[in-house]
Amino acid sequence: DKGGYRHFMAKEIAEQSTVLGAAVKYYLSNREGQHTLETGLDFSGIDRVVMVACGTASLACFTAKYWFEQIAKLPVEVDIASEFRYREPPVSDRTLALFVSQSGETADTLAALRYCAGKVGKIVSIVNVAESSIARESDVVLPILAGPEIGVASTKAFTCQLMVLAALTLQAARQREVLDGAALAEHVDQLMRVPGQVADAMTCEPQVQAISAQLAQYKDAIFLGRGAMYPLALEGALKLKEISYIHAEGYASGELKHGPIALIDKDMPVVVLTPADNMFDKTVSNMEEVRARGGKIVMVSDAAGINKAGDGSWQTVAMPRVDGPFAPIVYAVAVQLLAYHTAVEKGTDVDQPRNLAKSVTVE
Ligand code: M6R
Repeated sequence: DKGGYRHFMAKEIAEQSTVLGAAVKYYLSNREGQHTLETGLDFSGIDRVVMVACGTASLACFTAKYWFEQIAKLPVEVDIASEFRYREPPVSDRTLALFVSQSGETADTLAALRYCAGKVGKIVSIVNVAESSIARESDVVLPILAGPEIGVASTKAFTCQLMVLAALTLQAARQREVLDGAALAEHVDQLMRVPGQVADAMTCEPQVQAISAQLAQYKDAIFLGRGAMYPLALEGALKLKEISYIHAEGYASGELKHGPIALIDKDMPVVVLTPADNMFDKTVSNMEEVRARGGKIVMVSDAAGINKAGDGSWQTVAMPRVDGPFAPIVYAVAVQLLAYHTAVEKGTDVDQPRNLAKSVTVE
């Protein structure tokens, strides 16, 4: 049931604020004024986290690497399952192995999990389908509580995976005693504000729809981001190519000069994901480089950022102000809507794009 929406993808994008609200309640229950995470996991004896997944789920892991390393001071390796499983990477009983999968049936992710079984301290999975193979073979299963996701393009599963990974980061930080109580409480507050900010972010839809009508005329697009916005740039590019068939690439903003800038001309839209945070000025200077070469900038930022950058952008998308590290969950809405409306504009089969399956059960 599409619930009155034209596509499942539109419904699933719109549902995000609600399902994220449920996930945050489930994972951060309030006992005696203390927000504690209910996972039964213990990070105190762990010296490394290995996260393995495919596609969009691997980009959720890549985003979480920034959080785990900055907030919980825990080294994280992220790998795509098809590479991890054949490389025979060394793991130990002090490694926590984390597998992220919406379906819980992705063949390469399951094979990577089986490689780790018996070799690592704990096998943890973050899944949407609770009765899946990956869930069954894990020591600890963390449900993302997104509800059924029908559209082939992952949207609410991605943001709910991020929500669980963020909550897990805070639990790791608490158990490892690497943050003082006030800093931890601030991050808990920031995470609890995310579902409301995701609802606010949806108000950019008319603006994004108008931009999509133009974007649909182009053959290529580049997405740029810095820090935890870099994995979201990769996700934005994946989403756009998957459903609109426009060739798109994501890069770290700082990598622009090291090759991709050669692609910039008047036919290249460049979507820049940049909240007005401590790295904003660096990204603005990357934007100047794009602009100087005729590239068409779609700037996704908050009011302060859009104001500060002046009017050199081709298009702007306004996001709510998000303080702290969890902005990628909120900005995900912008890249999802951009891909969605561009695909609708092009008339592709949004929920069932060509050549793709919802669950990839063969390698
Ligand atoms: O079911 P999974 O989360 O394991 O699926 C992984 C990928 O196949 C999936 O995220 C894919 O990249 C999506 N179609 C992206 O929108």
